[in-house]
Amino acid sequence: MMLDYRRTKNLLLTLAFAGPSGVLADSYKLAYSVPFAPKNTTSVDQSIVYNGTYYLSDRVNGGVHVVNLAGEKQTHLVSGFAGLFTANGTNEYDISGPNGLVVLPNRNELYVGDGAGTVRVVDLFTNEITANISIGVSTRADEMAYDSKTGIVVVTLPNEKPPQVAVISAKDRTVTGKVTFHNASELEQPAFNELSRKFYVSVPSTGTNPGGEIAGLDVSTFQVTDILPLSECVPAGIVFGADQNLFISCSQTQIETYDVAFSQVMDVSTGKIVAKISGVAGSDQVAYDPNSKLYFASAYQNQVGGKKGGAPMPELAVINATSNTIMQTWPTDNKLAHSVAVDAKTNLVVVPLVKSGITVYNLTTASSSSKPLSSSGTASTTSSTAAVHTTNAANHWVPSASLVVGVLALAVPFIGY
Ligand SMILES: *[C@@H]1O[C@H](CO)[C@@H](O)[C@H](O)[C@H]1NC(C)=O
Ligand SMILES: *[C@@H]1O[C@H](CO)[C@@H](O)[C@H](O)[C@H]1NC(C)=O
Ligand SMILES: *[C@@H]1O[C@H](CO)[C@@H](O)[C@H](O)[C@H]1NC(C)=O
Ligand SMILES: *[C@@H]1O[C@H](CO)[C@@H](O)[C@H](O)[C@H]1NC(C)=O
Ligand SMILES: *[C@@H]1O[C@H](CO)[C@@H](O)[C@H](O)[C@H]1NC(C)=O
Ligand SMILES: *[C@@H]1O[C@H](CO)[C@@H](O)[C@H](O)[C@H]1NC(C)=O
Ligand SMILES: *[C@@H]1O[C@H](CO)[C@@H](O)[C@H](O)[C@H]1NC(C)=O
Repeated sequence: MMLDYRRTKNLLLTLAFAGPSGVLADSYKLAYSVPFAPKNTTSVDQSIVYNGTYYLSDRVNGGVHVVNLAGEKQTHLVSGFAGLFTANGTNEYDISGPNGLVVLPNRNELYVGDGAGTVRVVDLFTNEITANISIGVSTRADEMAYDSKTGIVVVTLPNEKPPQVAVISAKDRTVTGKVTFHNASELEQPAFNELSRKFYVSVPSTGTNPGGEIAGLDVSTFQVTDILPLSECVPAGIVFGADQNLFISCSQTQIETYDVAFSQVMDVSTGKIVAKISGVAGSDQVAYDPNSKLYFASAYQNQVGGKKGGAPMPELAVINATSNTIMQTWPTDNKLAHSVAVDAKTNLVVVPLVKSGITVYNLTTASSSSKPLSSSGTASTTSSTAAVHTTNAANHWVPSASLVVGVLALAVPFIGY
């Protein structure tokens, strides 16, 4: 018997599922949401949590939202960014901003990628831009990673031809050099590994590896030192879990090109794929919580059945980084929900959604219940699972008619559409 325990402020649901394991499962529930301000948005990018504060890049508002997670409200909008450029009704992401962001905890600074090859430095005590670092290119500065010991920040320039990664010394805010990716179409997330003390970059596709690769960098010689090929992935977001395990999300292009859908975990010390997580694809940003040992994938462009041409099935997927299996999914949207961040201190997970704004979910541990839960225990019926998200034994959301019925019937305050 697998039990799934969720609680909201107004409602206690104890949900029982038929399952083989006999374990009490943890699960996420909706906590609250913060409306976008000053304007609703149609284009956000990356997000991150630091010291209980959530930061989200928003191109329409031309700034970074600052949300106090404990206070459940927005406290600032860091302004001074390029904003969203459009031409003939099409968003021009290659020159817009803000885009990727990274916190430099030992400096209490947020680096934010912006249009016109600029990285803006935000002082996290004043929430103001205190410096601009010019990379010397006309297209946007995008995603970043940081090594706090050496003070090195790497930032992708995905729209340069060819794409490049610029290396910045945070101490003197200068660009020390660039790594050029001659055969890559674009670049995605970089990540720093504490064990190997090396930066890695997600490369969606190259002439040699059309399904993508993970590239290891030497940031003193500005060379690619490792090429770890991927098969049928076309990766986007990456994040390190424990040791040298890299969680790799694959993009919607994976589904549309190869008619498959999976995420994967690579051991970067060997380049071997140690796990494939079937059914989770179409993600952009991913996150890891070292406290709960969970990965989060913003699978906003996932498709039903993992099939080419399949109907949209935008969802947030929570993956247990110990067993590399899906713990839970819930529906999101295929517009703003390509961003996900987690607070490792509180386990709160944050996803921007068109309908509800900046939306926060809370991890509820079954073991935190004083009484063991049982199928004959408290609260309501299994049909109420649909109110949060329909699940199978793996807690994987599946869009269905019963989902809609469940939502209407129970009116649980889930706002994930
Ligand atoms: C999250 O859950 C914990 C434990 O149940 C609770 O103490 C905390 O208030 C919750 N936070 C929010 C934002 O709902
Ligand atoms: C907008 O579309 C018109 C007509 O197709 C074209 O002439 C023009 O160059 C386009 N402008 C931009 C900025 O792409
Ligand atoms: C973040 O928390 C650390 C540890 O408590 C503290 O030293 C630092 O000043 C805080 N930074 C900000 C911007 O609040
Ligand atoms: C950063 O650049 C913007 C213009 O893009 C400018 O308004 C601002 O004053 C600059 N900030 C600093 C600290 O130089
Ligand atoms: C680039 O990709 C092509 C295949 O499209 C390959 O023949 C060529 O060797 C690659 N060049 C480099 C520098 O990797
Ligand atoms: C993850 O899986 C491991 C091994 O199966 C299990 O012990 C652990 O409780 C799971 N974590 C969560 C948060 O469910
Ligand atoms: C923002 O969007 C929400 C959800 O669609 C809507 O209820 C609200 O009225 C909008 N606010 C503004 C200022 O347009």
